[in-house]
Amino acid sequence: MNKCILAIETSCDETAIAIMRNNELLANVVSSQIKDHEFHGGVIPELASRLHLDNIDIVFQKALKEANISISDISLIAIVNGPGLIGALHVGVVFAKALAYINNIPLLPVHHIAGHIYASNLLEEFNFPLLALVVSGGHTELVLLNEHLDFKILGQTLDDAIGESYDKIARVLGLGYPGGPIIDKLAALGKNNYDFPIPLMDDSYNFSYSGLKSAVINKVNQLKMKHESYENADIACSFQISAITPLIQKTLKAIKEYQINHFVLAGGVAANSYLRKEITTAINKENPNVKVTLPPLWCCTDNAAMICSLASFYNEDSYLNNYHFSVNPNMKLDK
Ligand code: KG4
Ligand code: ZN
Repeated sequence: MNKCILAIETSCDETAIAIMRNNELLANVVSSQIKDHEFHGGVIPELASRLHLDNIDIVFQKALKEANISISDISLIAIVNGPGLIGALHVGVVFAKALAYINNIPLLPVHHIAGHIYASNLLEEFNFPLLALVVSGGHTELVLLNEHLDFKILGQTLDDAIGESYDKIARVLGLGYPGGPIIDKLAALGKNNYDFPIPLMDDSYNFSYSGLKSAVINKVNQLKMKHESYENADIACSFQISAITPLIQKTLKAIKEYQINHFVLAGGVAANSYLRKEITTAINKENPNVKVTLPPLWCCTDNAAMICSLASFYNEDSYLNNYHFSVNPNMKLDK
């Protein structure tokens, strides 16, 4: 059967629609709101909802044009209904429901983080057991999959997400938003000459970033108060090493314990050049038989191509021909 999926993603600050026909990606449109939120130093939820509303039809028309198809060719609409910002999610869900109702197309509500994990399936077929390290603005977790769509969270952050700490530290250093890519570039020029704590190097698979974040902010404030000179690049480099060390250590431990065949990196922080290099080197050294997939930069941060990829693995029993579902800002990945 001809399967043509249209996927919609509006969980945070990107309005994204992609179209995939029989596993071939025909369109991938992402309208980023970064320029509008930059001025405020972070995402303003109310503004994000309004911008999604302004842009969603433009993004939709662009995606149809890019794919060179019409709405009557679409056989499934996949929509992210959580987790994320409540108002932002609502815009995508209401748009998806209207589109589905008018054109009599089934709907499939899906999980945003599952989408990030399936970004890597656009590149390489999954080989189970698979371990995903999810690192984004709202999540830091290790997820085990023994088969498609079977998500088990091994551990997660007990407080802040890693991306959030990159963004906050960049703000304190006056570097702009989003902080991740800026700190990434700056860290490569700096020295590891500040002794920041390496968080939660225990036996669990959990993470913690609030203590490290506070330690870095306190250090910067102290240096400023004492009028001591410092290089932002050195702060960035030292912070980054402390932030990424537990990710690598716990990934290696999980690979061993669960006899993993395939490792994938997922989420916005998967774009980080230091993390990409260090985690690949560490896995190749300790477990050369484990396949490692790093999503390319274009599908690390939020997009709808990853949602098409995820949706393609659901069978028709999961499709909805009703509109009795809502958004869930705190939606869980494992049931
Ligand atoms: O997945 P994503 O687009 O949105 C969420 O689902 O949260 O991730 C956004 C996060 C932001 O915190 C951003 O600073 C971070 O990903 N990020 C990076 C890099 N590129 C984006 N963090 C570190 N290094 C990067 N190169
Ligand atoms: Zn995301």
